[in-house]
Amino acid sequence: PTALAGRPFLKELDFTGEELRALVELAAELKAAKKAGTETRRLQGKNIALIFEKTSTRTRCAFEVAAADQGAATTYLDPSGSQIGHKESVKDTARVLGRMYDAIEYRGDSQAKVEELAAYAGVPVYNGLTDDWHPTQMLADVLTMTEHTAKPLTDIAFAYLGDARFNMGNSYLVTGALLGMDVRIVAPKSYWPAQDIVERARELAGASGARVTLTEAVEEGVAGADFVATDVWVSMGEPKAVWDERIAALAPYAVTMDVLRATGNPDVKFLHCLPAFHDLGTQVGREIHERHGLDSLEVTDEVFESAHSVVFDEAENRLHTIKAVLVATLA
Ligand code: CP
Ligand code: NVA
Repeated sequence: PTALAGRPFLKELDFTGEELRALVELAAELKAAKKAGTETRRLQGKNIALIFEKTSTRTRCAFEVAAADQGAATTYLDPSGSQIGHKESVKDTARVLGRMYDAIEYRGDSQAKVEELAAYAGVPVYNGLTDDWHPTQMLADVLTMTEHTAKPLTDIAFAYLGDARFNMGNSYLVTGALLGMDVRIVAPKSYWPAQDIVERARELAGASGARVTLTEAVEEGVAGADFVATDVWVSMGEPKAVWDERIAALAPYAVTMDVLRATGNPDVKFLHCLPAFHDLGTQVGREIHERHGLDSLEVTDEVFESAHSVVFDEAENRLHTIKAVLVATLA
């Protein structure tokens, strides 16, 4: 992946399927080296700024541990701890940080901001999640899929159920299309990705051999799937007021044991980028439980805790795949 040296990592559409595959393969090598105790430090002396305008557990920790494993230092800028967007423009922040750091990670709402940061920083910028895309998550999901099936990528079928108009839905659709996979978006039509993204995915599929399906029918959508994935129904930055309409629209798309059975695949695996509302044990979860009398939202606790669930492999793989992005772009 020397072809990726110095490049930003902003969205999947900036890459070829071959480049994304190479990053996943590099992640698998880095993972094996770490487990074997043979990892070499290829990022000694590098400094990486981590800007988080939205909260994070996995992404932040993955960047910090990946950098430390490779000998690089990080600075974490929390949602209130920098001038970006409040007292200083994105463009100025980019030029300041670009003078001090070798790379910058950014998580926030708008894709335009991370693109602007990249345009002015003069160093690689990584998208740690925007409202539109979650590209580092896709590398972890693809690595996890390759670990849990013997099939080549192009034979893998996966179905994403839930709100597909946001980062995870968009990213799954485009990633599946780029990699030549069998990708299904299963959601009410009003929750499908925007038309331009669907068209782009169909074009990409034409070239990669991917099979792209968008359907409202759960049974048809999951039939034969190797993986079933979902995400929260209300994303970071969205108002609490949308919970009622989301629950009403998306309840039929919750991942239950019946949904897994409908795949017809006894070995089907379950993916979720996390955090997940599977037991409503969190504060928001308890409020939802009281208001709607539900015990879970996008996935039942039974599925989440079952042998089908590979969500913690997926979470661990954020580390190895983010490390691959750092090594490929900076080493
Ligand atoms: N999946 C994911 O991005 O998790 P965090 O929000 O904890 O970073
Ligand atoms: N769609 C979710 C993903 C979290 C990793 C969100 O944006 O909050």
